[in-house]
Amino acid sequence: MASYRKALRAACRIWGVDDDPEPGSTMMQHLARVGSAAATLSRGYNQPTPQPPYDDADARAAYVLRYFTPYRRMAESILGDLGRARLLGGSPALDVCVLGMGPGPEIAALRSHLEYRHREVTTLRIQAIDRHADAWKQWFTALLDEPESSRGPSLTARHMKADLADGAWIHELDSNECRVVLAMNMLNEFGSSWPKAREHFVDLVTGLQQGAVVIVGDQYRSQQAVGHLSNLGEHLDDLLEWHRHPNDPAKDWAAHDQLNGIPEAMWTSGFFSPDRRPRTLLPTKYIAGVRR
Ligand SMILES: C[S@@+](CC[C@H](N)C(=O)[O-])C[C@H]1O[C@@H](n2cnc3c(N)ncnc32)[C@H](O)[C@@H]1O
Repeated sequence: MASYRKALRAACRIWGVDDDPEPGSTMMQHLARVGSAAATLSRGYNQPTPQPPYDDADARAAYVLRYFTPYRRMAESILGDLGRARLLGGSPALDVCVLGMGPGPEIAALRSHLEYRHREVTTLRIQAIDRHADAWKQWFTALLDEPESSRGPSLTARHMKADLADGAWIHELDSNECRVVLAMNMLNEFGSSWPKAREHFVDLVTGLQQGAVVIVGDQYRSQQAVGHLSNLGEHLDDLLEWHRHPNDPAKDWAAHDQLNGIPEAMWTSGFFSPDRRPRTLLPTKYIAGVRR
């Protein structure tokens, strides 16, 4: 099922309304209201240090409806790249630590990647850190509860609310078990706390077992994210054998297929409009390496 439709269905479950696209229906009213929240969210991202209002329920809904699908596609493309290098999989259970997971598009991507490329993985165990973990948990559950097929791995998730710049989270995490670390689309949200967060990130990678895979990705357009990515890469040089180095050029993921799956209701309600278009192309920079 197209992901925009899936995101809308999850939203309807959370709002407790029917998927009814008639003008004036409760779903259409929710969509129109959340469309306005999407504008507030964009303004939050456009500040020198982005401060998106994730503590607001409508802003979270706007994030999911607007970004879950393109970010899932971005993660799918990166995982496709890594799949050719056969970095993932290999055992029945895969333990993954996710930093700044939000509603979890990277996990939707990983689960389908495993389903198609690594049938040997039957259990996917997630430990996720996010400053707004409590608030996102409901969305993660609504979006990932419904597997795309019965062939994919089973999924369990532990959601931990913590600030990555405060190192206490490292002790909460069972990082010995962790075979994959994912951090997607969150680097631009660090302001002056970046050096601390980077230090804890490096501590996490230091403690990983040999062969663990680290993947950090963000949008190329964000200068702050690209700067942090290179800076993080330099600090991980001794720890990781690079599959993709921080200085590699950005990749453009053409994602036209996404647009076909947008439910009509998202246009007619005004959630998307000619001025507020869905994302179609995500120039991405990412680093990926294997713990030496
Ligand atoms: C843009 S969202 C990305 C979510 C998801 N990874 C994705 O690709 O859609 C950024 C996430 O990082 C989290 N975050 C930002 N700064 C953080 C920090 N210092 N500590 C913990 N989480 C943080 C936010 O709460 C938010 O859920």
